[in-house]
Amino acid sequence: MRKGSCARVGQIFRPEITSYARIAPLVMLAPLILPFALSFASVRSPYRTGVGHTPGQPVPFSHEHHVSGLGIDCRYCHTSVERAAFAGLPPTETCMSCHSQVWTNAAMLAPVRESWRTGQPLRWTRINDLPDSSTSTIPCTSGRARAAPSTTDRSAPCP
Ligand code: HEC
Ligand code: HEC
Repeated sequence: MRKGSCARVGQIFRPEITSYARIAPLVMLAPLILPFALSFASVRSPYRTGVGHTPGQPVPFSHEHHVSGLGIDCRYCHTSVERAAFAGLPPTETCMSCHSQVWTNAAMLAPVRESWRTGQPLRWTRINDLPDSSTSTIPCTSGRARAAPSTTDRSAPCP
């Protein structure tokens, strides 16, 4: 066959087909890859992790008011923050140390007074849940957990 005679052999595919052929494998793999890509994207999405979600609480407690406004130390209420993976939520007694003196008649605080009177703890809804891997601690010989923030660090001080 002479050089250039190919041109006379009828062309089966139009030239544009070449570019389709290049992306064809991607198109065929998409149904396999997409579900993984989407689940990776959604598992950590703000929607899935509840960013901005504000669950109802028994009392409209304000950190801004108590911490920034009144200057109460976090550890006054979250007593186990330096010892355990869970910082703890304050018992009614902690609120009553002030609220038996201030704002004693506020309707907002009725559940706190009720809890104090009946001895039934306030049921705060927790808003975060760390994976166990990040909250597991290396215990100290005393049997207590290491001091925060590096409870998984062997060099962190023991209480
Ligand atoms: C160190 C003292 C102190 C402690 C402890 C304390 N409070 Fe308060 N709280 C105050 C003061 C002071 C006010 C403001 C009163 C005012 O505005 O006149 C206040 C106001 C409030 C209010 C009204 C809304 C607001 O923030 O203005 C709520 C609700 C409240 N506290 C809930 C609680 C709860 C629940 C606890 C326990 C987890 C608690 N407080 C512990 C001092 C305290
Ligand atoms: C007067 C008591 C008080 C003080 C002081 C306080 N907190 Fe709280 N904290 C609470 C209460 C009550 C809750 C549960 C209700 C809520 O989520 O608002 C809570 C909840 C939290 C939560 C959510 C915990 C969970 O597991 O859902 C975080 C995080 C937190 N506090 C951090 C802090 C930090 C950081 C500080 C210091 C800057 C601080 N708190 C100071 C009373 C307090």
